[in-house]
Amino acid sequence: MLDRDYQFIRELVYSHSRIHLGPAKRELVSARLGRRLRATNLTSIGEYCRFLQCKKGEEEISHLIDAISTHHTSFFREPAHFDFLSKTAVPDMIARREGQSWPTFKVWCAACSTGEEPYSIAMTLMRALEPVRPAWPVHIEATDISHRVLQRARIGVYSKEALKDLPAPLVRRCFQKGFGPQNGNYRVKQFLQDAVTFRQMNLLEGSPPFSDRYHVIFCRNVMIYFDRPTRHELVRRLSSLLVPGGYLMVGHSESLTGIHQGLERVESATYRAPL
Ligand SMILES: C[S@@+](CC[C@H](N)C(=O)[O-])C[C@H]1O[C@@H](n2cnc3c(N)ncnc32)[C@H](O)[C@@H]1O
Repeated sequence: MLDRDYQFIRELVYSHSRIHLGPAKRELVSARLGRRLRATNLTSIGEYCRFLQCKKGEEEISHLIDAISTHHTSFFREPAHFDFLSKTAVPDMIARREGQSWPTFKVWCAACSTGEEPYSIAMTLMRALEPVRPAWPVHIEATDISHRVLQRARIGVYSKEALKDLPAPLVRRCFQKGFGPQNGNYRVKQFLQDAVTFRQMNLLEGSPPFSDRYHVIFCRNVMIYFDRPTRHELVRRLSSLLVPGGYLMVGHSESLTGIHQGLERVESATYRAPL
């Protein structure tokens, strides 16, 4: 890829998603653009860059961001967070619930990819909140920049391989086994799907479209793709959307050192808003 083409792609991706592509990512970007060249019937990256600059190419920008992004995820990834959710965050919120106007237990799963993460949160909360009387309904807002991953998340169908580390009773309780052409696949049961709303959203664009505050925010394994000023801005946004004493979970390789915005570190990759 020519220098000027890489520079153009880097700037375009940054301005639309804030994903920072350093010089070391050049080979990877070049390889990932191969798919888009085939999809658009273009023969070179130079031609592809020219296409992106014309009116007809505007729609291609979201496909470009999608192709550049890493969507890797899995059920109960970084499991310590799910333990923390059920053993610490939920009991803490239950204890503080009285006198608050908190009709639902609200979670925002920011950068949710293909849905494994918000469904893992839903499975954890259903169990942790089951004994709570009066019942406390759960609502999980799950967002991502990519329309393609959200479409898969909404369908909620996963391969047997994706479920291989889940205990069999959990799979029976939460998934519907597929038959015929769906043999080998499992669909998330309706009661879990009802707890999650998926919508497309760029984490850094405009003001967050939420009026409510969240008891817990998961924003994991996306900050690593942003530069420091962007991470700083994102943490500021996220912390302003937590209830007092609400929790922010970030990826275990994402440190908030120097950008924690008054959040207190309670354990690895887990932060808490002031009370
Ligand atoms: C590696 S996945 C992380 C999925 C999940 N949070 C996890 O930890 O398993 C990163 C996701 O961030 C999304 N993403 C990247 N930039 C974004 C942005 N500016 N706004 C919203 N989502 C973004 C990508 O589309 C991708 O699905």
